[in-house]
Amino acid sequence: MGNTHQKKAIFRERQNLPSIAPLLTTVKETPQTIPARIRGRFPTWLNGYLLRIGPGKFEFGKNKYNHWFDGMALLHQFRMEKGTVTYKSRFLQSDTYMANSVHDRIVISEFGTLSLPDPCKNIFERFMSKFEKPTITDNTNVNYVQYKGDYYVSTETNFMNKVDIETLEKTEKVDWSKFIAVNGATAHPHYDPDGTAYNMGNSYGPSGSCYNVIRVPPEKVDVGETIHGAQVICSIASTEKMKVSYYHSFGMYFSKPFLSFHQINAFEDQNCVVLDLCCQDNGRSLDVYQLQNLRKAGEGLDQIWCSHENLHKEDLEEEGGIEFPQINYGQFNGKKYRYFYGCGFRHLVGDSLIKVDVVNKTLKVWREDGFYPSEPVFVPVPGASEEDGGVILSVVISPKQNESNFLLVLDAKNFEELGRAEVPVQMPYGFHGTFVPI
Ligand SMILES: [Fe+2]
Repeated sequence: MGNTHQKKAIFRERQNLPSIAPLLTTVKETPQTIPARIRGRFPTWLNGYLLRIGPGKFEFGKNKYNHWFDGMALLHQFRMEKGTVTYKSRFLQSDTYMANSVHDRIVISEFGTLSLPDPCKNIFERFMSKFEKPTITDNTNVNYVQYKGDYYVSTETNFMNKVDIETLEKTEKVDWSKFIAVNGATAHPHYDPDGTAYNMGNSYGPSGSCYNVIRVPPEKVDVGETIHGAQVICSIASTEKMKVSYYHSFGMYFSKPFLSFHQINAFEDQNCVVLDLCCQDNGRSLDVYQLQNLRKAGEGLDQIWCSHENLHKEDLEEEGGIEFPQINYGQFNGKKYRYFYGCGFRHLVGDSLIKVDVVNKTLKVWREDGFYPSEPVFVPVPGASEEDGGVILSVVISPKQNESNFLLVLDAKNFEELGRAEVPVQMPYGFHGTFVPI
């Protein structure tokens, strides 16, 4: 944050946190569009889709996934038009989902779960199965990304799935490695105003590993194209051939080692590159998100709480630090900015929405006890000239079965609630989303 160097946050124990297990549990999809019940008001200028994705199915037959990241992708769609809101959701019909469903067990390994040989196979079949080509998961459950005007759902493998954002149906599976020499790409590309997309992906070869910067052109040459024309525009060799770093999103900088999932923004100021990001000293949080930990309650949760670093004054520490950062991307990506928005983490999942003023070092917080809001998405009001002229959208869910989940709309300026659209559907805690105007 500018000149204010981060200082290590004081570890604070959080005791007797409520269980959030229902937010990390398999739910049913809602393929038929249902109306939401509006309380307050949704601005009539706010016309579009809030698309979100995250894990929504955690077992097949007797097999259970170990890690939150492994759950089968569930696509959510909130459609806002002239002050009304509807909702629908669908499981991504990935090859992984289909294969697991047909076999009624986990047949394809995920980040934290290895698939095991079918116990029903005889010895000869098991012997043969060792020689089957391993299949990489196409359970792309992390984020919606955009290439050449089309929407894809992405994780960090070589596969992406193109989806129809109206029906939430998968239309095509795309393999990065068929176009360029990379073994995958992040789920957090960046976009130029003309639609040119940039991403990063590692490559692994006999001479060593490389970090590759990827460019995807903004326009199609032929109808039906996907990421045709993608190029590696810069390839940086890993310092140690066999030890390539992990990155979840990207910027360019030199620093002591740390783990970061999300960049907030990067820009030039007084001949310096300023980079703001959410970071941790180590990768312990990946272990914390084992499903068995997430589903603990009370004392069980007390034992697995992790520390965080301060990005701001002490009041941000009170909110549990911040993640899922978002900015007014359309106008301020790559530029000096003043506001970012994110989720506070006084629990293992976000339990508040926070607006950070990086100039005055102040916070605005929205919280409702027992409710867990998703990554805040900023939508500018048409014609707005001010950076925070617009609204914040977030899907707010509760582990209590008698509470309605809802799409929340806040005034981005004062962080006050304008309205909420309640949907009587159980939803698990997800990862990322995007707003698509109509
Ligand atoms: Fe992410």
